[in-house]
Amino acid sequence: MSSEKPTMIEFKDVHKYYGDYHALRGITATIRAGEFFSLLGPSGCGKTTLLRTIAGFEGISSGVVLIDGKDMQNVPANVRPTNMVFQSYAIFPHMSVAENVGFGLRKDPRSKAEKAKAVEEALAMVGLKGYGGRAAHALSGGQRQRVALARALILKPKVLLLDEPLSALDKKMREHMQVELIRLQRQVGITFILVTHDQEEALVMSDRIAVMFEGEIAQLADPETLYRRPASRKVADFIGTMNFLPARVLSQSGDKVEVEAEGFGRLTLDAEQMTGAKTDAGPTIGFRPETLTILFDGQTASDRESPATVTEVVYYGDMTYYDIKLDGSDQPLRLSMRNVFGRPVLDIGTKTRVAWSPGALVLFR
Ligand SMILES: Nc1ncnc2c1ncn2[C@@H]1O[C@H](COP(=O)(O)OP(=O)(O)OP(=O)(O)O)[C@@H](O)[C@H]1O
Ligand SMILES: [Mg+2]
Repeated sequence: MSSEKPTMIEFKDVHKYYGDYHALRGITATIRAGEFFSLLGPSGCGKTTLLRTIAGFEGISSGVVLIDGKDMQNVPANVRPTNMVFQSYAIFPHMSVAENVGFGLRKDPRSKAEKAKAVEEALAMVGLKGYGGRAAHALSGGQRQRVALARALILKPKVLLLDEPLSALDKKMREHMQVELIRLQRQVGITFILVTHDQEEALVMSDRIAVMFEGEIAQLADPETLYRRPASRKVADFIGTMNFLPARVLSQSGDKVEVEAEGFGRLTLDAEQMTGAKTDAGPTIGFRPETLTILFDGQTASDRESPATVTEVVYYGDMTYYDIKLDGSDQPLRLSMRNVFGRPVLDIGTKTRVAWSPGALVLFR
């Protein structure tokens, strides 16, 4: 579906130097119209820098940035079809909510009544209908962030740029605003580009995500692909929890790969389960905690099973996280189980069996 959408932003081999420091190292990517797109990566990887090259706050050293097909070289920030919402929402505390939202319309030729109507509409969009007369300083953090959003949306940008807009909010408010932002994006249909270092936030909110490390995009994909088929161990480690087991590739013929993995023994994988570029670290099998299941008394595996010992137990109410070691392996593995009423939580040291399936594994070459 989303592949049908036209291109909104295109980066072609974009480099950015701050003095000697190479902050963006050949960014090539396409962001589609109407997409909820996230830039995800650790602190200092270049997310804000890349966002600012779209807004025009930052010149680039080489390469091309196109917005809606137009080369942005020499196009100043104030005439680009973009608007930015900052982390520290920068609203004016001495103004009313309506004055804040209408701030960008100062030079708009429309009548006062028309502008007031536009302000009301923008406030309604972010769930602040009737708040116009309120003093901006008398708002909660979440409400201020909504005012900042309304102030950006009223200018009807083609692209809304959001630099960690929720990071100052507490967990509950952040989760609430995540849902609100998704709803808002669907409603207005414009392209949202969100910067975040929170992998869960990116997974929850985005149509597609660019994972960045050290000025480069390591992988650009939809959330499910990122989670299930990470392009490298580094991406796998950054997004959720990934277990690793050392492995040996025995043979490869056609679309099948024969592998010997520590603790799992011999197994056959489809070639499409192989991912990433060859590294010096050697081949490794990777799998997510929820793809291993403890077999309780009498249960049998529908696919493969292996004997294991529980080495750590963390009880979360709805879930229990177990660390286990497979017989024949010293590698600690993390396993997550949804708790079921009446079923015991196992103790450290318990000998058990775990079920797994070769289809849920990835092979990092
Ligand atoms: N104006 C500047 N002058 C020199 N170096 C800069 C400048 N702005 C950013 N940098 C450097 O460029 C790199 C990328 O910075 P950027 O702000 O894009 O990171 P980020 O991914 O947004 O990180 P964070 O998650 O901490 O906000 C960092 O190493 C930073 O120190
Ligand atoms: Mg930043």
